Amino acid sequence: MWKGIILAGGSGTRLAPLTKVTNKHLLPVYDKPMIYYPLTTLMLCGIRDIVIVSSPDSLPKFESLLGSGQQWGIQLSYSEQSEPRGIADSFLCAEDFIRDSNTALILGDNIFYGSGLPQRLQLAMDRMRGACVLGYEVADPSAFGVVELDENGKPISLVEKPLEPRSNLAVTGLYFYDHRVLDMAKDLAPSKRGELEITDINRIYQEIEALDVVTLGRGTAWLDGGTHSDLFEASQFIKVIEERTGLKVACPEEVAIRSGFIEHSDLERLVSDMPPNGYREYLSAVLASL
Ligand code: TTP
Repeated sequence: MWKGIILAGGSGTRLAPLTKVTNKHLLPVYDKPMIYYPLTTLMLCGIRDIVIVSSPDSLPKFESLLGSGQQWGIQLSYSEQSEPRGIADSFLCAEDFIRDSNTALILGDNIFYGSGLPQRLQLAMDRMRGACVLGYEVADPSAFGVVELDENGKPISLVEKPLEPRSNLAVTGLYFYDHRVLDMAKDLAPSKRGELEITDINRIYQEIEALDVVTLGRGTAWLDGGTHSDLFEASQFIKVIEERTGLKVACPEEVAIRSGFIEHSDLERLVSDMPPNGYREYLSAVLASL
């Protein structure tokens, strides 16, 4: 049984003043709140038991946006991160929720899109011996965790934001772990920047030869919303795809019905409660096509 964590805290300093009163993950990415994107990515992994980790201030807002999850056939819980102590701190915040499960952790500002993506994610979950991360080729890897692979695809080095990257393969913000991750997080010391680093967890798995890397092909888009430019480009990207195809990216109601999490009648009820707008029209068309 897999559980999911969406990490939606942090400081959002780079986006200030946008983030002065609004949590970054509630900001729009074109026509939806940012958190819809990582949420639907976890749903596409088949994960239905998910915790949102965020600051005490923001949690009630996420709760009023997303509720119990029951409307989408999933179960959502909420857990506080009192200070942004780092990505690996999320396991400690969600300790009671994870218990002995396998866990998928996704950063709340990460957007994944591409044909064959659900199959790729399933491969990562199936292949996992201890932990699995997704490698993605980027032009400038120095802003990310960077993984170097040997000729057999085995990871041989992992470095957080390297000045001289040993490969172009960035580690994306979606990670898969077995139950050992919690004890590893408990034993972790903060880094020089005072955070519990996810790269340190990945390095522990790599040292015990339990880390796998699945690479996402160039037909996949991996974006995040960390800076104004990133946010603007992510919105543009989603707008272009949605207008060209007539299909929405990251629509939880659609993912829920296509994944069999809810029934036709459930979606009918959701749609009838929606205000008359393009989102409702879209879902009415989905209903009619099923
Ligand atoms: P970052 O983009 O590294 O940090 P941030 O969101 O605080 O923004 P900034 O650097 O502009 O101050 O965080 C990556 C993701 O992880 C983002 O979705 C926020 C989340 N996060 C937490 O929820 N808690 C944390 O302690 C950290 C470090 C990040």
